[in-house]
Amino acid sequence: MTGGKRVLLIIGGGIAAYKSLDLIRRLRERGVKVKVVMTAAAQQFITPLAAGALTAEKVYTDLFDREAEQDVGHIRLARDTGLIIVAPATADLMAKMAQGLAGDLASTVLLATNRPVLVAPAMNPAMWAHPATQRNVATLKTDGIAFIGPESGEMAESGEAGLGRMAEPLAIAERALELLEAGSALPARPLAGKHVVITSGPTHEPIDPVRYIANRSSGKQGHAIAAAAAEAGARVTLISGPVTLPDPAGVTVIPVETAKEMLAAVEAALPADVAIMAAAVADWRVAQEGSEKIKKDGSGQPPALALVENPDILSTVGHLAGNRPKLVVGFAAETQNLIANAQGKLQRKAADWIVANDVSPSTGVMGGDANTVRIVTHDGIEDWPTLGKTEVARRLVARIAAALETAEG
Ligand code: CTP
Repeated sequence: MTGGKRVLLIIGGGIAAYKSLDLIRRLRERGVKVKVVMTAAAQQFITPLAAGALTAEKVYTDLFDREAEQDVGHIRLARDTGLIIVAPATADLMAKMAQGLAGDLASTVLLATNRPVLVAPAMNPAMWAHPATQRNVATLKTDGIAFIGPESGEMAESGEAGLGRMAEPLAIAERALELLEAGSALPARPLAGKHVVITSGPTHEPIDPVRYIANRSSGKQGHAIAAAAAEAGARVTLISGPVTLPDPAGVTVIPVETAKEMLAAVEAALPADVAIMAAAVADWRVAQEGSEKIKKDGSGQPPALALVENPDILSTVGHLAGNRPKLVVGFAAETQNLIANAQGKLQRKAADWIVANDVSPSTGVMGGDANTVRIVTHDGIEDWPTLGKTEVARRLVARIAAALETAEG
């Protein structure tokens, strides 16, 4: 059953490009509809006419269609397919993909896609073995890109042999069919092209140079959401108070200490499509931070510490007029009246959703790995089962992606 299966084949520049014509045939024999994008370099090796004759479709070479004076619809090209194959993938094209460059049609499509991508590298063995290429391959694998080959063997250049030959068209076609049939086997990238700003962890509010006010937040939930959003293809800015967790892969982490610093970092990170405020921001800071360590004065009386309220970051972002993210999500960590308190916060802070959780000491949520949350929105309340924090993060990200898609129609 391969009916209705579609592949976008991106042909890079290299002598292996001629094998891509065979790949088109192999895919079509298997009932796959193929559209082709060719880079400028690819056209030095094979012509768009040859690819077009084999696909019976228009071949795309430029970001802009000079005759029609419009963009060729790169977003549609990037999304309206079951799979993107890059074959041959040159070192240059993979470097562009790893860096997120989008200077031509092929790289733009690869940056804009939310579909699975299969890469078939082909290059000189020295270029393949180069640390720069290997770094890019590692990055692309972390990003969820699938690879086939390269294989070892004779190179087109006389006398050179080694790892760098493109995988055979038949093998690429078969792998492509597996990926198309698996459908969601590769991580879907439903948040591709979106910017998500997340706060996480506690804040530390200094009392004097050696003491501070803090709380028990570990940052595990916020960091897990950042990792899940990045896995879903989002550009993620994680603004984190002091935590002992490693930075999640593929996320820009901005470390801060205090609530005021956290607010400034959030404002600097905007605009964003989504804001998720998972930090346990200290509600108060010391009115006058001592520049010297506060000493006991011998009277037996503790010093009076005057506190002032910190800015509310969630509320500030929720009430933004011009720059408000489409979706603003807050958390409500409560020990009593969970729903009523969460609903109050939803209204007061102008959030779209509140992820409410019971953090009574008996639940072990604070610092633990599991979480039982309820999603409070303007439409109602959703109960989720007890899940690991990673699973809560994945579900939340999937729910966010679905909400954005509905909102964008
Ligand atoms: N929040 C924030 N900035 C603050 C306080 C809270 O951004 N200064 C955010 C949190 O990140 C969370 C939500 O507001 O998303 C609710 O946090 P919580 O501590 O439960 O709410 P508070 O407003 O502090 O309410 P209270 O302490 O009275 O329960």
